Amino acid sequence: MKFAFVTDDVTQVKADVLGLLCFEDRTSDGAAWEALDKALGGLLGQLSQEERFKAKRGQSLQLHTHGKVGASRLILVGAGTRKEFQPSDLRGFVARVAKAGTQVGARTIAVVTSPGEAPIQERTAQFLAEGAVLGQYRFDKYLTSDDKKAREAIEELKVVLPADSDATRTDALRRGAQRGEQVATAVGLARDLINEPAGEMTPSQMAEVAKRVAKDHGLELKVLGPRECEKLGMGMFLAVARGSDEEPRLIHLAYRPKGKTPVKKKIALVGKGVTFDSGGLSLKPSASMEDMKVDMSGAAAVISAIGVLADLGVPYEVHAVAACTENMPSGKSYKLGDVLRSMAGKTVEINNTDAEGRLTLGDAITYIQREAKPDEIFDFATLTGACMVALGPHTAGVMGNDLSLVERWLAAARLAGEEMWHLPLPERLREQLKSEIADMRNTGERWGGALTAGLFLKEFAGDTPWVHVDIAGPASADKEAGHVAKGGTGFGVATIVEYLAGRE
Ligand code: BES
Ligand code: MN
Ligand code: ZN
Repeated sequence: MKFAFVTDDVTQVKADVLGLLCFEDRTSDGAAWEALDKALGGLLGQLSQEERFKAKRGQSLQLHTHGKVGASRLILVGAGTRKEFQPSDLRGFVARVAKAGTQVGARTIAVVTSPGEAPIQERTAQFLAEGAVLGQYRFDKYLTSDDKKAREAIEELKVVLPADSDATRTDALRRGAQRGEQVATAVGLARDLINEPAGEMTPSQMAEVAKRVAKDHGLELKVLGPRECEKLGMGMFLAVARGSDEEPRLIHLAYRPKGKTPVKKKIALVGKGVTFDSGGLSLKPSASMEDMKVDMSGAAAVISAIGVLADLGVPYEVHAVAACTENMPSGKSYKLGDVLRSMAGKTVEINNTDAEGRLTLGDAITYIQREAKPDEIFDFATLTGACMVALGPHTAGVMGNDLSLVERWLAAARLAGEEMWHLPLPERLREQLKSEIADMRNTGERWGGALTAGLFLKEFAGDTPWVHVDIAGPASADKEAGHVAKGGTGFGVATIVEYLAGRE
């Protein structure tokens, strides 16, 4: 997509759709509004009164301009109050404009941001680009009727800046927009992998995708099958995989900075890659199983994000690891009461085969510690329903063994506009994981389920600074909202890129 930053008169800008961000509590209507209203003979004021457009969040009003201004159509998008408005909300604004654009087959859309407000920054430009690309996201490969298919992609986004804007800043804005497009493209890839039915996106297929990502972004790739994992002693990962007819794959992508770039740190990104979670012998009821193709969202995030990091040439050595498997019931399934031997050597008694994610992640964490000796480990996992009970469907739970690392991670999330919240790992709850016959068991009691899952993983992180991100809620959305489409969201990608390639 092309991004242009222009200082044209807003009434003259040529576009199929021009979006205007409107605040509920505007004291003055802003220069852009006034200019457009005047050119349209007072239509904006009149229409918004008659249609009761109050610029509330989620409200919008679309009108045709009949050639009276440069843009063929206008869309007024409500932003709520100025106090509540976050820069990251710009993604939703532009996404709304892009959607209005695709509906009418637009080639060019334009937006006016914050009329009479602070000058737009590189980061703002990134949000605008993310919104423009993600607003057009659709997973329509299985729709057969043409009118349900996505229309053609929008070619250009014009961002209308005030006439007195500093022209020297447009380089920074262009950089921001380019970063936004890169992030949004990776988020789109993650969404595709999540939305793909589990019957297609099997562990072997995940490995095929990783192969393509490695080729496209110049990454090293190692794929381990069941026999190689057996040799490494990954008893927990293999136990989960055993009930399935699909072979598991441990995917390991690596990026090493080229040339003279000194390596600041080695970072490991571990993603839960359960391509379908039936619960195993602790079978889920049908309604809870329905959406369980999303259980590889962590893997989708790390595989997608590492490509962006390579393209940006970040000064970190980065490893993305995904232990991919199905969790299925069969005559070969691992059983309740089984004692598994992990790669780390610890033994684990199974009291619920539906707590499979922590088993696969535990071995994946040990694998990457042995293989790469990372300075920091981050894991991303649709790990517990309990985390959704605690934080709701849009916020990820963040736990870790190093407070300063957790805080740096949360700061990156805030900048990237992804909702995350710190949860504790109370030592007292460790008791719940005690077993009579093994070093520990895989689940605790009902209360604090997100935390006992975190405590389980902590055993495998050991002394390495580690952050665990439970994305069970935000990994998928049950309805469209702004730049977030229904289905897989690609949550995590933006914060990973922000953390390792931040500007501030
Ligand atoms: N994949 C699920 C968690 C999940 C739930 C992800 C809802 C996305 C949406 C996980 O493997 C699981 O089944 N967790 C159990 C843990 C329990 C058995 C201790 C859960 O949350 O019920
Ligand atoms: Mn499960
Ligand atoms: Zn699961």
